[in-house]
Formats: sequence, structure tokens, C-alpha cells
Amino acid sequence: MSLEPLLAPSVLNADFSNIQSQLKIVEENGADWIHLDIMDGHFVPNMTFGPLIVEAIRKSTNLYLDAHLMIENPEKYIEVYAKAGVQNINVHVEATSHLDAVVKQIKGLGCHAGVTLNPATPLSVLDYILPQLDMVLIMSVNPGFGGQKFIPYTFEKISALRKKIEETGKEIRIQVDGGISEQNIQEIITAGADVAVVGSAIYSAPNIASACQLIKTKMLPPKCT
Ligand code: DX5
Ligand code: ZN
Repeated sequence: MSLEPLLAPSVLNADFSNIQSQLKIVEENGADWIHLDIMDGHFVPNMTFGPLIVEAIRKSTNLYLDAHLMIENPEKYIEVYAKAGVQNINVHVEATSHLDAVVKQIKGLGCHAGVTLNPATPLSVLDYILPQLDMVLIMSVNPGFGGQKFIPYTFEKISALRKKIEETGKEIRIQVDGGISEQNIQEIITAGADVAVVGSAIYSAPNIASACQLIKTKMLPPKCT
């Protein structure tokens, strides 16, 4: 059984010269978490921001901060991001040789621990670590850039992961990230996801507030009248 679905707007496409008000708009229009895409120019072919900006974002919103570390050897920087004030840290399984140790490190710092899988990475990498996790992030695009197209085989991957999670008997969230819009959000939730990361479909929309509201509405089960 999935948990209540949460909306986590990614600020990747937000206007950073105005970040405080950009955060407020999604906060007032259905955002549950804020997703922070941290890229190092090595693990992915793009660079974004680091701990100083995360600290500034921490001061600008009370929402739960979810850090998606697209960086090589994340173990070197876990503490820095935990201190910057995030509540969840996602590390890519492809970016570290020491996944078990990194997960323990994240939890030891009092944060929730997430493990992220690139589109072509099989679920079998989770076989021994799954029960230790708070969340698995399934990438539905190749990481690095906003505005890409959702990869359709992700649906099957989400459903297969949901079955594996049910076998553990634990409440482990499934987060999906990349190419999510009002068109595919319902299908993603139905497949078994319970956290949707949405970047350009919110922050590049002509009206950020109404785009955020619309996507949130489509995530929730229809109300009986
Ligand atoms: C991609 C990032 C995503 C991205 C999502 O590497 O991890 O979080 O910002 O953006 P959209 O929703 O535009 O695909
Ligand atoms: Zn992301």
C-alpha cells in the first residue's frame, strides 16, 4: 500500500534571483516538499548549486527539504548538506562504491535516507539495502537537466519496486523524478509512486501557482460526492 502522495517541486527551473517568492508560490499551492537538484559537473554533465544556496533556501521556507545529490563520492559531502538543513538525502547508487556505509552515515546525522537509481539501473541493486531505506528515487529521465521526456519503461519499474517494498513490510516511499506533468502524474501514482518531483511543468509554466495546484489535484484520489 502506498502512502499519501506528496508533491515535491524541483527548483531547478525556478528564478533564483527571486528564490524566496518562487518558494512561497509553490508552498501556498500544494507543494509538500522542496526538491533540490545538486549537480557536480562530473557525475552528471551539468552544475547547479552547493551548500550555501541550500542554507539560503532553508532560511526561506519551512517545507521539508529533499536533497538529490547528483555528485560523485557523495560520502564526502553528506555532513555538509545535513548541516545545511535538509531532511532527506538521496544518493545515486551509481556514484558510490560504499552504499551501505553512506546510508548509515545519512541516518547517523539524523536525516532520512534515499537511494536513487538511473533509468537503466536494475532494481536488483537494492536487494540487501532496501529495508534500511526511507525512500527509493526512480529516475524517469537521465539525470542532469530539466525539461526532458519521461521514459515509458519507468512505469514497469515503479510497479515492480512497489511489490518488493510490500514484501519488506516497511513503509518505504517511491519517488519518481523527470518528465512529470499533469498528463502522466495519475498513471505514475497508480503504478505505485508516492512522491512526485516536478520541475519544468511547474516552474516553466506561464502561471506557477495554477500549474502547481493542477498537478496536486491530479495526484489525489477523486472526492466522492
Ligand atoms: C534531473 C533532475 C530533476 C529535474 C526535473 O536531473 O533530477 O529533478 O529537475 O525536471 P523536469 O520535471 O523538468 O523533468
Ligand atoms: Zn532531481
